[in-house]
Amino acid sequence: MNSVNIEDKDFEIYLENDQINKRTRLIGIQLNVDYENRCPILIGVLNGSFVFMADLLKEIDISCEIAFIRISSYKGIESTGTIKEAFGLPENLHNRDVILIEDIVDTGLTLKYILEKVKQQDPASVKVCSLLFKPKALLEPIPELEYVGFEIPNEFVVGYGLDYNGLGRNLKDIYRAV
Ligand code: IMP
Repeated sequence: MNSVNIEDKDFEIYLENDQINKRTRLIGIQLNVDYENRCPILIGVLNGSFVFMADLLKEIDISCEIAFIRISSYKGIESTGTIKEAFGLPENLHNRDVILIEDIVDTGLTLKYILEKVKQQDPASVKVCSLLFKPKALLEPIPELEYVGFEIPNEFVVGYGLDYNGLGRNLKDIYRAV
């Protein structure tokens, strides 16, 4: 599909599933090397990260644990700036190597909030892996953001786990608003 319509908005194809999979494979290889013999805990930030998380895990062959945290800071296409925690972090992160898995880093507010919470538990290390990153929207630098699939312009995207008003998460490819 070259374009989709969701509610009042039109979207055009931006990143195809094949392209995403190729990039995900490379990130997986990098994580296998960087975390060899370390048994990291990968924490997916719901809802958006579930598709990326599932595909990334298939590329990871080192021993690792999986968890999820649910956060929402968006309504429509603009950040509300308010962060709601629906269910929280695992409570045993002390001395663990933590990798946060995000679908997209936009303003960085969500990550900043989660990183603070993770650090309170004194982990051995914490890094962030995000499929997409909008550098122009970032409010403060995030030194922990080590693994990025694609840097994208400041445009609204849907598909591959990302939603517009709750819709579009099931699209195989990623589309941008036109
Ligand atoms: P941040 O706190 O502004 O970095 O926003 C992060 C969250 O906002 C992501 O995990 C997404 O759920 C959502 N988000 C940001 N940009 C987009 C977008 O372009 N499409 C869909 N969701 C987005």
